[in-house]
Formats: sequence, structure tokens, C-alpha cells
Amino acid sequence: MTEPAVKLINLRKQYNGFVAVDNVNLEINRGEIFGLLGPNGAGKTTTISMILGLVQPTRGDVIVDGYSVRRNPVEVRRRIGFLAENPGFYEGMTAYENLMLTARLNGVKDARRRIGEAVRQVGLADWLYEEVGKFSRGMKQRLGIADALIKDAKVLVLDEPTSGIDPRGAEEILELIRQLSKQNGITVIMSSHLLHQVEVICDKVAIMNRGRIIASGTLKDLIGDRQLVTVEVDNITSEAVEKLRKLGNVSQEQGRITVEAHSDIRHEVAKILYESRVLVKGLSVSHPRLYEIYRDLVS
Ligand SMILES: Nc1ncnc2c1ncn2[C@@H]1O[C@H](COP(=O)(O)OP(=O)(O)OP(=O)(O)O)[C@@H](O)[C@H]1O
Ligand SMILES: [Mg+2]
Repeated sequence: MTEPAVKLINLRKQYNGFVAVDNVNLEINRGEIFGLLGPNGAGKTTTISMILGLVQPTRGDVIVDGYSVRRNPVEVRRRIGFLAENPGFYEGMTAYENLMLTARLNGVKDARRRIGEAVRQVGLADWLYEEVGKFSRGMKQRLGIADALIKDAKVLVLDEPTSGIDPRGAEEILELIRQLSKQNGITVIMSSHLLHQVEVICDKVAIMNRGRIIASGTLKDLIGDRQLVTVEVDNITSEAVEKLRKLGNVSQEQGRITVEAHSDIRHEVAKILYESRVLVKGLSVSHPRLYEIYRDLVS
């Protein structure tokens, strides 16, 4: 077993009496894309800031590539590329000048060539000599990714990389992150509220709420054996709904009833509806999506 790329050990952050991050333990493997999810105020940014060494943990530690962020913050920062909600570039400088600055600060050799390669990878080659002030939000995020590539970061940390970006642009950025992770073997930790996209690109996720990890693993781990039986009906009686509730969680929306259970209950559902004289127009079985898992855990 190789060491995980990033390890969070009993990580805690307390602001006066308020616990923002409460005893978080996570292991993120090399090359993995890891999604950190949770409602506003859950503690995602605080966790990310501790990984980056920007916020000092009250207790616990973060180990990146074998280095402790407490004892060796410089070594940790050298290995991490960070993309904040608003990547802090110099607006009056060109993309090239900004990237060159990063290259110099990190002692990157062959900087010119590396910059050329990075902007090609993120699709900004035509904008290299334009001022960053002219860039759209999405372009700045791309430039932020190029910045991480220049540093040759082993770990890329992104705090809501798609916030405020239109759906198509967000999809493109996530696709770019996925490609880079797979091609360059970069470990990615990202926070996001876009569950349908997280579902597609993340190998594993952790759901945070009030500072704690309330679930983590692959999507498959989180779904487990949960199944949803959805029936389309014209009208439903309260008597039938009561009976369905005995099978599992029931939710209703216009002409559609969903029963959630841990086994295949299609027959039982059909039988109850038939006996209650409810006309069934359709019946299907599916697995919950990340959104449903999230909603149930966070509510
Ligand atoms: N410097 C600080 N001082 C006091 N409280 C703080 C500080 N930073 C964060 N907090 C609190 O810690 C909690 C977690 O905040 P954090 O920014 O980590 O949440 P988040 O999960 O990133 O939320 P969002 O989805 O809104 O970005 C919040 O209640 C916040 O008010
Ligand atoms: Mg945040």
C-alpha cells in the first residue's frame, strides 16, 4: 500500500468558542479526484485553508506527500497548487507576466517553455500576452490551473472552482481538471456545490456538515444498496400512501411517488397500489443520485 497523497488527522479548528472544523480524518490517494461537499458554513474552506497552511489548526495535522503542514509548511506549499474562488492575479499584468512571476517565485527552470505548455493545456494560448484584467471569470480559473501546472504541483486544491461560471464553462473547467489529473497523475481536492458535476468527475467525496464529516467514500459506497421505486399515478389515496410507508421512505410530487428501500420492492409496491385501486401509469427502479444522498444526510 502506498502512502496517501494527503492525510487529514484529527483536524480541528476552533474560533473562540465556535468549532468550525471538528476532528476531521481523511485519506486522499494519489491521482484521486476528491470532492468536499456540504452546505454553506460546513467548514470546507476552513479545512482547505488548513491543508494549505493558511489557517493554523487548533489540533491535528495535515500530511502532504509525507510532510506535516505544522512542522514543514514550506515543503507542503511547494507541492500544492491552489485555486481560490478568486485566483489572485495581477490584473494590470499579462497572463505571461503573472505566470512568469509564479515560475520565478518557485525557481522553475525552463520557465518560458513550461508557460507555453501550460497555457496550451488550459486553452489560453491565444491570450498569453493579454492583460488579466480583461479575462472573464472562467478564463481566470483556467489561468489558475495553468499556474498550478507551472509549479508542477503534485496536489491541486480548488475551492469552488466553478462558482459564478456559466454551466457550459463550469463543465469545461471540470473536464480540464479531470484530464490534468488523469494525464499528470495530480491529486485533486475540490469543494463544490455542483453535485451533478461532482458525481461525474470525483472518484471519492466527503460530505461535511457543521464541521464534521458525515459521510465519505466512492459514490457506490454512499449509495450502498439503496434503491428507489418510482411510480407514476393519476391519483393516490392516503390509505395507499400509508401502506407504502411501511416499505420505506415515501416522497411525492405531482403524479409521482417514490419509495426508497434497501431491496427490490417493485412487487410489493405494485401489489399495494393494485389493492388500493390506484391506476399505475409507469413503474421504474433506480439508484439514488448524489443529490438525494446529500439531501438526506444534510437535512
Ligand atoms: N476567521 C473566522 N473567524 C470566525 N469564524 C470563522 C472564521 N472563518 C470561518 N468561520 C466560521 O466557520 C464556519 C465554516 O466556514 P467555512 O468558510 O469553512 O464554510 P464553507 O463550508 O466553506 O462554506 P461555503 O459553502 O459558504 O463556502 C462558518 O460558520 C464560518 O462563519
Ligand atoms: Mg467556502
